[in-house]
Amino acid sequence: MAIDIVLDIGSQNVVACIPGKGVVFREPSLVVYDVATKEVVAIGENGLRMLSEDPGSLAAKRPVEGGAIADMGALGSLTRLVLRGCGVARLNRARVLTCISPSSSSLERRAVRDALRRSGASSVRFVSEAVAASISAGISIDDAMGAMVVDAGAGKTCVSAVSLGGIIDYEEIRVGGDYMDGAIRTFLRQDRGIIVSSRVSAEIRLMVGSATDTPAHEAVEVMGRDASSGRQVTVVVKSADIYAICLEVLNMIFDAVAGCIAKIPPELAYDLTARGLLLIGGIAKMDGFAGWIGRKLDLAVAVPGDPQTCIVEGGARLLQITDHSRDLFEQVAMRCE
Ligand SMILES: Nc1ncnc2c1ncn2[C@@H]1O[C@H](COP(=O)(O)OP(=O)(O)OP(=O)(O)O)[C@@H](O)[C@H]1O
Ligand SMILES: [Mg+2]
Repeated sequence: MAIDIVLDIGSQNVVACIPGKGVVFREPSLVVYDVATKEVVAIGENGLRMLSEDPGSLAAKRPVEGGAIADMGALGSLTRLVLRGCGVARLNRARVLTCISPSSSSLERRAVRDALRRSGASSVRFVSEAVAASISAGISIDDAMGAMVVDAGAGKTCVSAVSLGGIIDYEEIRVGGDYMDGAIRTFLRQDRGIIVSSRVSAEIRLMVGSATDTPAHEAVEVMGRDASSGRQVTVVVKSADIYAICLEVLNMIFDAVAGCIAKIPPELAYDLTARGLLLIGGIAKMDGFAGWIGRKLDLAVAVPGDPQTCIVEGGARLLQITDHSRDLFEQVAMRCE
């Protein structure tokens, strides 16, 4: 028997949903391998735990970076173990619907399709992430009024104008949580002379990163390595400095939204903006971001209950809606070739 699985393989997280069952898999999108043998030992949370226990002989690879495939081998290992984690076996193959960015090339789609087929998928189909998210927000694929979807994740931000189950236009930038973390690391090194890991910069951002200048904590203590002496040091970093860095990146996201609105025909832009923005991806959860971008654009902003699973949930809904209609599915599906 074949099971239906909806997949979203992101730069930081991989999420899988089974129609009728909900989210069945949600883990960090990374593959941990043995440095000496090059063999993959684990993925996701398990991989992170093993890596922290044995950092000397293990290393991690991210299959997707900046929203694009960065490592084909790692992608194959990840899809194999994700499908297995979803219950796929030799006698229990899967029909996979993969949610992808409209910027993905047909080469990338073929690579994802081949990796999934080798991992136990009997068929692989594609839908754009923004269309899936709009379906999960209750927007019908027959709705000409459509929606504006802003997906701000770890590796990329994609702004899409969606109408009738398709992408009218989009604007994508390789800016998201990872970019903010990089900017925080650069600031700490250049202004404070301290070197921190990407894990630490992400922790700082999650603790005090904000779109408002009224942070919950005035400052945060940061442990790192002194850039000149190499010694372990602790410095106090003002939340206002982290706010300034985040704001610069959030302004890049704002520019992408404004750029997308400027590209689409005015009457459609009017329709889409009348409905407001659907803000998704992990960065949608950043303190004050939804309110900040809504005020700047003078638009209503809706953030789904879980902005990191709404894509696969919408994909699962799409499979349920189009169950017996191939034509209906084809209207929404993105092609591989
Ligand atoms: N509560 C939160 N506040 C701020 N940022 C958050 C929060 N929760 C998650 N994030 C950030 O969201 C990002 C992950 O988002 P998401 O899961 O949408 O990315 P992804 O789908 O894996 O990546 P991409 O789609 O860009 O390839 C990370 O940078 C993470 O730190
Ligand atoms: Mg994503």
